[in-house]
Amino acid sequence: MTGVLGGTLERALAPALERAGHREAEAGARRSLRLPAHGGPVLALEDITLSFGGVTALAGISLAVRAGEIRAIIGPNGAGKSSLVNIVSGAYRPDAGRVWIGEESFSQVPAHRLAQLGVARTFQNLALFRGLDVVDNIVSGLAYRARSTLVEQVLGIGRAARETREARAAADEVIATLRLEAVRDRRAGTLPYGLQKRVELARALVARPRILLLDEPLAGMTATEKQEMAGFIRAARERWGTTIILIEHDIGLVMGLSDQVAVFDYGRKIADGPPAEVRTDPVVIDAYLGIPHDIEAGGGI
Ligand SMILES: Nc1ncnc2c1ncn2[C@@H]1O[C@H](COP(=O)(O)OP(=O)(O)OP(=O)(O)O)[C@@H](O)[C@H]1O
Ligand SMILES: [Mg+2]
Repeated sequence: MTGVLGGTLERALAPALERAGHREAEAGARRSLRLPAHGGPVLALEDITLSFGGVTALAGISLAVRAGEIRAIIGPNGAGKSSLVNIVSGAYRPDAGRVWIGEESFSQVPAHRLAQLGVARTFQNLALFRGLDVVDNIVSGLAYRARSTLVEQVLGIGRAARETREARAAADEVIATLRLEAVRDRRAGTLPYGLQKRVELARALVARPRILLLDEPLAGMTATEKQEMAGFIRAARERWGTTIILIEHDIGLVMGLSDQVAVFDYGRKIADGPPAEVRTDPVVIDAYLGIPHDIEAGGGI
């Protein structure tokens, strides 16, 4: 795109803008998440406690999530699942404990550094810009990245022009992966609920986060939409190696999608392991059904 002053100014400024952009990109790369050695935890919680008045939302929670893993967190209502996501995303400060993201540890995750740390999230309730097109909603997931100055943005030159091109390309890649081509230019607010949830997933993925926190991404969907969405979550992991924390109530779906499942109940972690192990764990069955269960009879959640 050429700015309102024509190509001359743009050409004159280009080398300087290019150099500045280069320096910033290098600094950005240095600042970005340092991943641990292959297979190590990319996210770890260490003895996290959180209370609201007399309510203990989380009581001494420790959790280690390996890079590239899909880790489900399940548990009855009020078990502390969203509280955990809010701690990892810096919305809540734990009363005690630490959060490790890559090689950095925090007593409170700095919410303003979340994108730079490579963490993105979706919310339990839809949080789209209803009046904006799908593609613009998805591009908004990159807003934090803008390095261009206001002058550059107004004139549409230098870094601003390049950022716009790169943002559209990144959005279109996610749109293709999540099969949103047909609704790319539709207003988000006019889409059926299931598609809006998919757009929200696309917005969280557009910045290629290392860690993606999904708080009930399948809630309120039809069985078919849930299956589709599960496929897209899997596709994101396959395509970008994203580590995914998935909160979900649909146990059948969770068991098919996750590598590991952590079970919370009243703020405590009562089980953590592969799906096949967790679903037949008597403690887990009790938490879900509220009664002792005879798993000898081939039971399981
Ligand atoms: N901001 C808050 N203020 C007061 N209490 C809160 C707050 N956030 C969470 N809680 C309380 O902490 C406990 C855990 O809530 P949380 O939202 O983490 O549960 P959840 O497992 O996500 O439940 P659900 O499945 O219903 O979404 C609940 O008792 C809840 O009422
Ligand atoms: Mg919740």
